Amino acid sequence: MKILVTGGLGFIGSHTVVELQNEGFEVVIIDDLSNSSIEVVDGITAITNKKPIFEKLDLKVKLDVQDFFKRHNDIIGVIHFAASKAVGESVAEPLMYYENNITTLVYMLQELCGLTKKNFIFSSSCTVYGQADELPITENAPIKPAESPYGNTKQIGEEIIRDTCKVNSDVNAIALRYFNPIGAHPSTEIGELPIGVPQNLVPYITQTGIGMREQLSVFGGDYPTSDGTCIRDYIHVVDLAKAHVIALQRLIAGNNDSNFEYFNLGTGTGSTVLEAIQSFERVSGKALNYKIVDRREGDITAAYAETSKANNVLGWKTELTLDDAMDSAWKWEQKIRNK
Ligand code: UD1
Repeated sequence: MKILVTGGLGFIGSHTVVELQNEGFEVVIIDDLSNSSIEVVDGITAITNKKPIFEKLDLKVKLDVQDFFKRHNDIIGVIHFAASKAVGESVAEPLMYYENNITTLVYMLQELCGLTKKNFIFSSSCTVYGQADELPITENAPIKPAESPYGNTKQIGEEIIRDTCKVNSDVNAIALRYFNPIGAHPSTEIGELPIGVPQNLVPYITQTGIGMREQLSVFGGDYPTSDGTCIRDYIHVVDLAKAHVIALQRLIAGNNDSNFEYFNLGTGTGSTVLEAIQSFERVSGKALNYKIVDRREGDITAAYAETSKANNVLGWKTELTLDDAMDSAWKWEQKIRNK
């Protein structure tokens, strides 16, 4: 029951390790600590009463990856989170993104092919759809040309896995296309740890709420939506983490319909930026200082998931609300700033 989680100390990775351990899996984490902290191991251990195995390893070093798999050839599933994820940075440093996100995926798949059990879960993104023509977005929506090297690595990543599955019938893979993951574990032992100025909405909201930032800029108030601000599908990271365990169990049980499947992971409900702010104000009891400014380049108007494939085929659906997620994100922010 040994599962490898790459990037297992990151935001979504750490929450997934918790859910895996809660389900009785033995977890080995690989992380290079480039965008995460070793203390996350303690947070996971505190929640689950079980310390995951951790190896600091740079997946770009092929020999180290090969050596790792020689020592752990009893792995029955791989969940591959390790990747760089900042859109703006990917535009500035495309080659770094292709090396971090593509080279490492290739090395992982090469080693996966040498295992007895070849089960693979890939972190993909709703960014592969761009501004979809129809909402909610189904898995059949066309893949649009990527807006950034980051988005391109997710599209290419899926293609690499699809091609691998075509010629290796014993490889079984699922790509999970996340909408907007937010929140933290309700225990406040683990959560998101953005480095520097947050680019994503919710950490910016909570940092403004706690006084680290003066004011939240709401990017655009003239979009064709109910209140003029963009619409996203914000999903609680704990719900998202649980989907990974269910997807893995589907592969282990051999219940998959084909050896490469993909699912949208969202709530199915879109919220505007102002609705997200209102949620924060409700759960925190604080008024948020914000101002509507110009649109941010590259933002799409609206994206939210059609969830019936994940609900009916994968057998998973979200249980937590936007307020639950915002409440946990706020509690987490208060905890880390008081430290
Ligand atoms: C972004 C990435 C996406 C990535 C995802 C990961 C872009 C264009 N897209 O999605 O590829 O998969 O993060 O979580 O960067 N907003 C503000 N003020 C802020 C920050 C955000 O108004 O200070 C608004 C944005 O305009 C957007 C919404 O909040 O409407 C959500 O933004 P964000 O959290 O950055 O996520 P996405 O842009 O959806």
